[in-house]
Amino acid sequence: MRYSIVMAAGKGTRMKSLDVNKSKVAYSILGVPLVQYVLDALKPLTLDQSITIVGFGGETTKAIVEQQTEVVWQREQKGTGHAIMQCAPILEGKQGLTLIVSGDTPLLTAETLQKLVKKHENEQSDLTILTSIVPNPKGYGRILRNSEQRVEAIVEQADASQVQLAIQEVNTGVYVFDNVKLFEELKNITPSNKQGEYYLTDVIKLFSNKKYKISAEILSNYEEMLGINDRVQLAEAAKILQKRINENHMRSGVTIEVLDQAFIGPYVTIGPDTCIKPGTTILGKSTIGEANTIGPQSTLEDVSLGKRNTITQSKILRSSLLDDNQVGPFAHIREHSVIHNHIRIGNYVEVKKSVLHDGVKASHLTYLGDTEIFENTNLGAGVITANYDGHQKHKTIIGKDVFVGSGVTIIAPVTIGDRVIIAAGSTITEDILTGELGIARSKQTNKPNYYDEWLKKIGK
Ligand code: UD1
Ligand code: MG
Repeated sequence: MRYSIVMAAGKGTRMKSLDVNKSKVAYSILGVPLVQYVLDALKPLTLDQSITIVGFGGETTKAIVEQQTEVVWQREQKGTGHAIMQCAPILEGKQGLTLIVSGDTPLLTAETLQKLVKKHENEQSDLTILTSIVPNPKGYGRILRNSEQRVEAIVEQADASQVQLAIQEVNTGVYVFDNVKLFEELKNITPSNKQGEYYLTDVIKLFSNKKYKISAEILSNYEEMLGINDRVQLAEAAKILQKRINENHMRSGVTIEVLDQAFIGPYVTIGPDTCIKPGTTILGKSTIGEANTIGPQSTLEDVSLGKRNTITQSKILRSSLLDDNQVGPFAHIREHSVIHNHIRIGNYVEVKKSVLHDGVKASHLTYLGDTEIFENTNLGAGVITANYDGHQKHKTIIGKDVFVGSGVTIIAPVTIGDRVIIAAGSTITEDILTGELGIARSKQTNKPNYYDEWLKKIGK
């Protein structure tokens, strides 16, 4: 049996947040909370039981993880050993291995974890530790090896001697334990150290004393173990993840013009020959097809995009666009919109919860809310669908091949047939049938010689 425990109860004091409900592991990189990266790295491992330990800001952490793992509370944070002890009611005495990771290490990869578990199983060890040799070991637990180079203890920074402080091999905080032995030995650790905490790392010495088999895997890329303790490290990790994600896309045929100016979330898929221009953010579960041009300065969240679309300086949220559409500059397509093919959504056009069929054009200064527009209809500049009466939202339906003049306001609910013309400047409150002209504005009157009379009137 394989079990996993993610430790995510710590306070994250160095984040210096005023928000007491936010745990450190709830901070996000590219729209995804830190702890979620760790859970994703665990996913390929085929685990029989997964536990996340929550504590400080625990309700927030719980909300993120509870669909994916069991949740165990550590109400008071008395150290990493104490955290693992809280899992005793679930795991104590069960045969198998337990993989332990921290919730604040979003750069750990599934490959590294798989390799560690495999090594543990192949070598039939009682404990396999992931270590790393780092240029600056400050703050980490140091790995103590005996004359045969076997790991025999870990000493924490606060408790280390001068000689020990010089050791560059450190504890990454990732371990695979024999589960039965782990819970047996946890009973024997004490908080008799500088920090007054129950250290999980003290279990190593106890294993060594009992001549249990301890293996160590040295992580070659120490970047992976970066733990997030403050907002500087949060930005550092974000930069590394951004590079990892963007390079993957580039290797599979996506052009990213400026690597550090494209912010692409870990779940986004992008087809070949799509070009991402600078200042572009694509987050959530967005799926982007082939040969699109996105950016500069565009934001897409949970968007499904087909092929050959051009999105310029625009924002698109929770909507889908099929093929060959042109959006922007400065367009805003909002939730639940469906944009079919060959559509033009131009400058300062906002579209909300609307369906636009093939060939529709809304090129300038338009608001479309709760609207469905059929094929090849053209909207002039400044068309507004007034969908909200201050109380409820109403629908507008516009047929095929309609020509809506500039400055038309359509006060919903209204249905307009096919091949209709609506005169510019009209305020439409009634349905218009197929083939009709709709005009709703007062007739213009011109007064001759008015300007001179006006000058006289004002005494000039
Ligand atoms: C720990 C290790 C250290 C290692 C380092 C790697 C111990 C005693 N030390 O130190 O050897 O080099 O990680 O990053 O384990 N947590 C809880 N409950 C607690 C305390 C912590 O859930 O009571 C969680 C934290 O949320 C965090 C993880 O455990 O995710 C590690 O805790 P942290 O305080 O960051 O330990 P370090 O001092 O970094
Ligand atoms: Mg830490």
